[in-house]
Amino acid sequence: MCGIVVAVAKNNVASVLLEGLSQLEYRGYDSAGIALMNGGFHRLRTTGRVAELNKIVNERKLQGKTGIAHTRWATHGEPSEHNAHPHFSGEASRIAVVHNGIIENYETLRQRLQAAGLKFISDTDTEVIAHLITFNLERTLDLFEAVRDSVTELQGVYAIAVMEEARSDRIVVFHNGTPLLLGLGTSGNYAASDASALIQVTKRMIYLKEGDLAELYCDSYRIVNCFNGSMSEVDRIVHESKLTTEDLGIGSYAHFMQKEIFEQPSVAANILEEIFNTNSASPQLFGDAAKHIFTQIDKVLILACGTSYHAGLVARHWLETVAKLTCNVEIASEYRYRNPVIQANTLVVGISQSGETADTLAALSYAKAFGHRYSLAICNVAESTLTRQTDLCFLTRAGPEIGVASTKAFTTQLTGLMLLAVVLGKLHGKLSNEDESKIIGALRHLPVSLNRVLRAESEIKVWAKKLSESQHILFLGRGIHYPIAMEGALKLKEISYIHAEAYAAGELKHGPLALIDKDMPVIVIAPNDELLAKIKSNLQEVRARGGKLYVLADNDSSVESSSGLEVIRLTEYAGLLSPILHTIPLQLLAYHIALIRNTDIDKPRNLAKSVTVE
Ligand code: F6R
Repeated sequence: MCGIVVAVAKNNVASVLLEGLSQLEYRGYDSAGIALMNGGFHRLRTTGRVAELNKIVNERKLQGKTGIAHTRWATHGEPSEHNAHPHFSGEASRIAVVHNGIIENYETLRQRLQAAGLKFISDTDTEVIAHLITFNLERTLDLFEAVRDSVTELQGVYAIAVMEEARSDRIVVFHNGTPLLLGLGTSGNYAASDASALIQVTKRMIYLKEGDLAELYCDSYRIVNCFNGSMSEVDRIVHESKLTTEDLGIGSYAHFMQKEIFEQPSVAANILEEIFNTNSASPQLFGDAAKHIFTQIDKVLILACGTSYHAGLVARHWLETVAKLTCNVEIASEYRYRNPVIQANTLVVGISQSGETADTLAALSYAKAFGHRYSLAICNVAESTLTRQTDLCFLTRAGPEIGVASTKAFTTQLTGLMLLAVVLGKLHGKLSNEDESKIIGALRHLPVSLNRVLRAESEIKVWAKKLSESQHILFLGRGIHYPIAMEGALKLKEISYIHAEAYAAGELKHGPLALIDKDMPVIVIAPNDELLAKIKSNLQEVRARGGKLYVLADNDSSVESSSGLEVIRLTEYAGLLSPILHTIPLQLLAYHIALIRNTDIDKPRNLAKSVTVE
């Protein structure tokens, strides 16, 4: 999604803005732009990568001590230079604007502004903001007030940064839903969509709250909140970011996705540090109020999108099996428009890597507004919007995930969700001490098992070669591994652009079996669980129709390679944790197929890392 970087400093900020943009590239974008103040606006925009923007900024020797920069992920209007940010208000503009999010009433505003004689050059909703602020600036003569008045008319979830030609010492920013934070440096002040863009210059960050309007000068700043009825200054806590430039580096890997796949044993170990010396999991892992809240609840509702939704689907099995609790899992973008039945004693769990996914945040607010009393975030980003909106929080501690395709975030979400099932099972009297300590023991062993599974990479590469020319691939799983089949299909689609679909293997004969022929490879997850015999029958159904089978099994699964059926054995059967282990070869498979197909693995086309619009 769009990324914003803003700087007001003592020295030229061009390189800070460009480095900030390159750190935000992982969010996904299709064009980039920058405007610097130097005796007037100097703006450059391109549909190329940030590196291309960097090149032209250097060629033209663009400089300035105040500037705004942006990566755009197109929503209104095609990806093109004229739609790229920063936007002006007409040719002789007094202001420049960058924007993340969507202005929902932009059409009404556009018509009104056009009727007032204003000309639109782009197809974006952002240009409406530029015109509206300019319109109000004529009256207020002060940018801060003009932005304050303008935002009362803008509907939607968004963040903006505005620079005025007449005041080269100041930038005004406003935060309403999509992420924006301030960075307080020693030789300047900054703002950005996330901390990774700013740690090059400072670790001191302020996470703005909804409705915060801030003005930044080189050595000071002021924040007021437009939604609290008073325009008096508000105090916001200054946080020391724990991010390091090393966290954001690619190390010796070719892609961030590859690095993040291979980090999984160590990030699992991070999470499990908390239970390292015990045989039980404490409710405290989820926050101070967890014990009280967990004993009140009698159901769980999980809200999430994409990969995080798949984590929720696995968790449903665990919550039913381990904690004997009813659990519903809903796609957040669907749930937010339903009329759910209120169940006050439901624990609403929002799962999100970024903690900024607009649909998940909206679904959670919706559930709360509907009377669901208790909420928990399972999230990878401390201080994200999600973690600030829930009663309880479990941080997955996977470190920054830069590759658009989620990998280590998923397996750490699963680890956290298993701990949740254990804690709830214990508190509700459904899990014996003995079973608890077995699960905890298996969790502690997880980093070792993950390492073993990663060793299957060379075999996976052989599969990748065979599968890389396929037009379509089917993924099958059953029970707790069906969501893993869904996750495998999603990974493959998003980075290799091969059409992939997942089915619960028992559903084959209800339709998809018609697709099977020699050109339809079928990847099957077949661990040694109680459904193995069923899966084996499903394999026969595919083989009998000429389908080519690629089977992921553990050491104990009694499935053997034969003509048209290839087996990769992973490690010993991991019981309830088996879905975590079977995820890894599917991530590797997607990665190696994408590598052969030479796609942009870390930034797949059309996708964004942090989906901050609906
Ligand atoms: C897939 C992927 C997406 C995200 C989804 C939710 O690899 O990354 O499907 O899982 O956009 O994002 P978060 O978890 O940040 O809420």
